[in-house]
Amino acid sequence: MTKPLTELGPHRLRERAAEAMMAARDRTAALTDAVDDTDLVRQHSKLMSPLVWDLAHIGSQEELWLVRDVGGRTPLRPDIDDLYDAFQHPRADRPSLPLLGPAEARGYVREVRDKALDVLDHTALTGRDLVANAFAFGMIAQHEQQHDETMLATHQLRDGDPLLTAPEPPRRPAGRLPDEVIVPGGSFTMGTSVEPWALDNERPAHRVHVDSFAIDTVPVSCGRYAEFVDAGGYDDPRWWTRAGWAYLREHGIRAPRFWRWQDGGWWRRRFGVVEPVPDDEPVMHVSWHEARAYAAWAGKRLPTEAEWEKAARWDPASGQSRRYPWGDDEPGERHANLGQRHLRPAPVGAYPDGASPLGVRQLIGDVWEWTASPFGGYPGFAAFPYREYSEVFFGDEYAVLRGGSFGTAAVACRGTFRNWDFPIRRQIFAGFRSARDVADGER
Ligand code: AVJ
Ligand code: FE
Repeated sequence: MTKPLTELGPHRLRERAAEAMMAARDRTAALTDAVDDTDLVRQHSKLMSPLVWDLAHIGSQEELWLVRDVGGRTPLRPDIDDLYDAFQHPRADRPSLPLLGPAEARGYVREVRDKALDVLDHTALTGRDLVANAFAFGMIAQHEQQHDETMLATHQLRDGDPLLTAPEPPRRPAGRLPDEVIVPGGSFTMGTSVEPWALDNERPAHRVHVDSFAIDTVPVSCGRYAEFVDAGGYDDPRWWTRAGWAYLREHGIRAPRFWRWQDGGWWRRRFGVVEPVPDDEPVMHVSWHEARAYAAWAGKRLPTEAEWEKAARWDPASGQSRRYPWGDDEPGERHANLGQRHLRPAPVGAYPDGASPLGVRQLIGDVWEWTASPFGGYPGFAAFPYREYSEVFFGDEYAVLRGGSFGTAAVACRGTFRNWDFPIRRQIFAGFRSARDVADGER
């Protein structure tokens, strides 16, 4: 199995960092080469940047952190820093900026990469926190992969014929699974202080007490969700918060994004293909409000972030928290649906080898899972290396999502990894599972 980063000698560590950067670049190339230049510069949705913005922004971040900060080298394009600063220009305004064109952007990211790999070759990966264990290089590989997931969501929003193809995900093995798993009350270790490439918001490790609760064995499926829709769930204010109800009315929302009722059944559009909604696949493209409403209708609730992480990482045999539900090994093809290997979630109940010690499945991969919790810093949080990665987003406006989706790369997904978004967002590959309180000792 792949060794943890902390056990690698300097040569292998350098190789691993370079591999992570190259794997991200392969994804970026696949997503940007799939469209023609017109599509590359077009804005496919007000929620998204033109793909060519993501491309040059990836290069710009790499230049800032690896070439200039770590390498101390001369800036390549100081003149474009501002254009690709996500805080300077809202997404909706990005198409009207004097952006680098397709050929220029491709040339720019290639030049930055050559310099960054040279910096990697000539930097001692010890000492300063930014370079110890090749952190900055891992951070930049994760940043690029995060934008690769965003670009995949842009592909999903794009009109027109299908451009992307991938093999089907594995099926679910035969046999029945219990609907839910009971997680006994008690404290566990949440977050991490030892994972070398964990980002600032995952740190530090700390003990959290969690009361006994039950959590769904698998994510809520499209079939189950359709029962809620068909039962009039979107017409009954009882299941919605005040804000959720107002949001439904304002936008005329009646079903998950990309779903359409036709000829007596639900259909969906997925990367340009129109197909019947598959009953047994985790539901996705639902907002936090829709997830919460479904759970209320089902007599349950969303899990808190601490509950989700305890279900995913806590090993009752050792009392320790694992890196992933299946243990400490890096995610492999048998564990989880990650990395855009497939262009859809696997059916609920798939990936038995990825189950947690208590038997909860598909916590990693397939779909991001909305939690009940707002995004905040753990006790002892310290922004690193920049406040704009997480800290400026702390607060009640954002809800936390966990576990990654089929569009998330393994390098950007851990048992401790935290994502966040506004409760109204539906373009991300997000679903959920539900939970409920149980009395101590109930089984
Ligand atoms: C962690 C996914 C919310 O895309 O806004 C990319 C990741 N941060 N560039 C986002 C990110 C800076 C971030 N999310
Ligand atoms: Fe970014």
